[in-house]
Amino acid sequence: MKIDGKTNVCGLIGNPVEHTLSPMIHNTLAERMGHHLVYVPFPVEEGKVPQAVAGAHALNILGLNVTVPYKSEVIESLQDIDTLARDIGAVNTLVRTDGGYKGYNTDMEGLYRAMLSEGVAIEGEQIILLGAGGAARAVAYLCATKGADKVYLLNRTFDKAQTVAAEVNGRTGRKVIIPMCTKDYTKLPGGKYLAIQGTSVGLAPNVNDAVIEDRAFYEMLHTGFDLIYSPWETKFMRLTKEHGGQAYNGLKMLLYQGIIAYELWNDVQVSKEDAQAVYEKLKGQFMQ
Ligand code: ATR
Repeated sequence: MKIDGKTNVCGLIGNPVEHTLSPMIHNTLAERMGHHLVYVPFPVEEGKVPQAVAGAHALNILGLNVTVPYKSEVIESLQDIDTLARDIGAVNTLVRTDGGYKGYNTDMEGLYRAMLSEGVAIEGEQIILLGAGGAARAVAYLCATKGADKVYLLNRTFDKAQTVAAEVNGRTGRKVIIPMCTKDYTKLPGGKYLAIQGTSVGLAPNVNDAVIEDRAFYEMLHTGFDLIYSPWETKFMRLTKEHGGQAYNGLKMLLYQGIIAYELWNDVQVSKEDAQAVYEKLKGQFMQ
């Protein structure tokens, strides 16, 4: 990679950031597309987000991604915010404007593109969404805005499911999110469901855990989409497959949230070939 006086800098703020795959996404795209751009992780300590954002702007940094734990906190430091990101209440991408940064949420659109690329539909679907944390909340919003028929939002803590459902139903004006306690999945109407796994259960190193262990649950699924991509195949995915369903991990969501951010920063469209090349490279990290 040639770095010279015209090189643009983009990066990631979060804590921790050591294990991020985002530099691979953006630096590969820059190389393939011939852009003068370099992407680096910036660990930001607690309480330092406003200084980090102001400093990045002063240093002419073109764009930033934001990861855990700052996706909500960063909103206070923005000049402007996209409507969708404001409704979700989480920002993962900052795009430079003259007076400061404008915040976007590309996680949600990234999941949507990932699902489209696998032929998994949301519109008209009966969906089971597992979890009611930050990630699941964005998924609930996605499902409500993309025309899901019903979304059964299952969470260990019922109160949180209720809060998310009320918020998303209120914001979208559609009463599609139905909060439930996870253990009450046995009360779900019969039929086959798309399940989206949005809890942290099953994430490495806890690879032998699944948020629902009962095999009867997996009989109800035609597709299981896990937001986790490490391990490559989660126990949730394995159980889905063992009962005849299709299963996907969250790596394509990671890929597409990055691609959409890259497109916003550089005002370009990333081709299918470039997207595929980045995906193969990311996948290589898990196949060693
Ligand atoms: P994120 O931002 O990644 O979504 P989070 O906001 O901490 O993370 O949310 C974690 C989600 O995983 C929550 O839905 C949480 O359930 P609770 O709301 O009941 O805490 C869920 N979760 C985490 N550990 C769990 C476990 N051992 N069993 C069931 N659900 C769990």
